[in-house]
Amino acid sequence: MIDFKNRVAVVTGAGGGLGKQHALLLAELGAAVVVNDLGGAVDGTGAGSAAADEVVATITDSGGAAVAEYSSVATPEGGAAIIQKALDEFGQVDVVINNAGILRDKSFGKISPIEVELVLDVHLRGAFYVSMAAFGHMKQQAYGRIVVTSSASGLFGNFGQTNYGAAKAGLVGLIKVLALEGAKYNIKANAIAPIATTRMTEGLLSGIDGFRDLFAPEQVSPAVAYLASEDCDLTGEIWSVGGGTVSRIFIGLTQGYTKPPGEGPLTVADIENHLSEIRSPEGYIIPDNSSDEFSKIVPKLSS
Ligand SMILES: NC(=O)c1ccc[n+]([C@@H]2O[C@H](COP(=O)([O-])OP(=O)(O)OC[C@H]3O[C@@H](n4cnc5c(N)ncnc54)[C@H](O)[C@@H]3O)[C@@H](O)[C@H]2O)c1
Repeated sequence: MIDFKNRVAVVTGAGGGLGKQHALLLAELGAAVVVNDLGGAVDGTGAGSAAADEVVATITDSGGAAVAEYSSVATPEGGAAIIQKALDEFGQVDVVINNAGILRDKSFGKISPIEVELVLDVHLRGAFYVSMAAFGHMKQQAYGRIVVTSSASGLFGNFGQTNYGAAKAGLVGLIKVLALEGAKYNIKANAIAPIATTRMTEGLLSGIDGFRDLFAPEQVSPAVAYLASEDCDLTGEIWSVGGGTVSRIFIGLTQGYTKPPGEGPLTVADIENHLSEIRSPEGYIIPDNSSDEFSKIVPKLSS
């Protein structure tokens, strides 16, 4: 049985939606939880303490341990304050769930620098600032679980979300490297790409009959709890989670085309003539790291 007894979890953006359910489940499983939320609107404007306070009250009313924290993840000071809260209240930090997020959707022709900045700040830089503040403590205790919240928008594409998609894809880069750097300290870093009916997807999913319940955020939290648990040996993974389905998303490398050694340098004509081999998914591999990719190329050159 997975449990979080004697574990301290920080969940960012836990005042509502997915983060709230993650916090409730982790608390139910025994974690002491820092419920961080800035308390603003979907577009990131405004702030307030009510959302985080309510989640904390729900947890403590049912006998759990939780404390509210209202900083924005989007600054280094905010990230540090969130982790400091865990240390001050509970003495340690074992789990960081980077979940806080906002939307500023615009098609690329209309997007302004501020809309790029705000979205990158909360999703991408925010995950950096909070995780960076926790990483040293995790290293010291030789234990840590970090989960980031990516999105299909960044991994598969979604019209009108270049800022959001880029931030969400950036988080995959973060956990891929963190997985390698954390390995020797038993720090695992994984990503989810959730699908859930929250205020953020209001009008998208909830308009479809029956989807509101099926895609309730509660259907995402068990996967987050698993990835955040001591039982989880996986690292550097990306999971699509929603509606009762959990799948792995991976970055694969096709066998591709290799110009036979001795036939001279690659030409533009070679590319045009071998497009199907370059693109065919048959025989693809999933590299564990960048040298895995390189080790695939080298044998071909000497054959
Ligand atoms: N709902 C989906 O289908 C879906 C799909 C893909 C990704 N996501 C991601 O899941 C995460 C949770 O989104 P949600 O759907 O629950 O939406 P939500 O709006 O209900 O939750 C986001 C929470 O983050 C908080 N927040 C925003 N900016 C913050 C900041 N700077 N510091 C601290 N807290 C802040 C908000 O107050 C809010 O409570 C987001 O990262 C979102 O991008 C959601």
